[in-house]
Amino acid sequence: MEQEFEGRIAIVTGAASGIGYTVAHHFASRGARVVGVDLSESVGALMAELPGTGHHGIARDLTAPEAAGEVVAEAVRVAGTPHILVNSAGIALLDPAIDVPAARWQATINVNLSASFYMAQAAGRVMVEAGYGRIVNLASQAAVIGLDQHAAYCASKAGIVGLTHVLSLEWAPKGVTVNAVSPTVVETPLGKKAWAGEKGEKAKRDIPVGRFAQPEEVASLIAYLSSDVAAMITGTNVLIDGGFTTV
Ligand SMILES: NC(=O)c1ccc[n+]([C@@H]2O[C@H](COP(=O)([O-])OP(=O)(O)OC[C@H]3O[C@@H](n4cnc5c(N)ncnc54)[C@H](O)[C@@H]3O)[C@@H](O)[C@H]2O)c1
Repeated sequence: MEQEFEGRIAIVTGAASGIGYTVAHHFASRGARVVGVDLSESVGALMAELPGTGHHGIARDLTAPEAAGEVVAEAVRVAGTPHILVNSAGIALLDPAIDVPAARWQATINVNLSASFYMAQAAGRVMVEAGYGRIVNLASQAAVIGLDQHAAYCASKAGIVGLTHVLSLEWAPKGVTVNAVSPTVVETPLGKKAWAGEKGEKAKRDIPVGRFAQPEEVASLIAYLSSDVAAMITGTNVLIDGGFTTV
């Protein structure tokens, strides 16, 4: 396989599951050294088993504001200055808007938006200093359309798109691109749980391509945005939604 990420160091959050794990595997298979971060203790063993050598897992709750700085410092110490950050850690807690408990609202914003910002800020500091970086934030189709029972989730993902705009313009002159990726439902543990049963079957029928996305399809898009050749793409939110949000 082409080693297009040879010599690259990639930090991937949410690396123990779903899109994050698939992205970590995709980068590792193409020569990158991956530092995976996750709440789950399993991340250490999962990163150790990736193709190639030198991968590293860090088990951390990224909602603690100090965690991002410590994670990036550990990545620099263990692997070197990161070239790539993919913010994939996220949660989906669904409630009718009228009933969203404050704790579930806050938890969603803390993980999906605040932790992504803290990580981008901490990685951005070393990338700006180095004059090179690729940051990809997982948003969602929920960033651009309303979804029933997704008040906190939609708000957090719309926030990601706004954040991506600002970081991209501040850091573009320093060689650091910042983009968002917005999938429709992806068949990961999170996606399967949120879209189980008849609700999911109806959602598939409403997607023009007639199915949900696969993690590897999303990983391929993220890899493109993380590559050298994507230097002219920054500040965008790329939809990967089978045409859903345009109909
Ligand atoms: N699956 C979908 O349908 C879908 C669609 C659009 C966007 N997304 C977004 O893509 C991203 C990845 O989703 P996924 O489907 O792979 O989810 P997933 O549940 O399979 O994986 C998410 C990972 O994030 C980790 N995580 C959660 N909270 C954390 C915290 N506080 N600190 C560190 N790690 C934490 C979890 O332990 C888990 O391993 C999320 O941001 C999600 O909102 C997913």
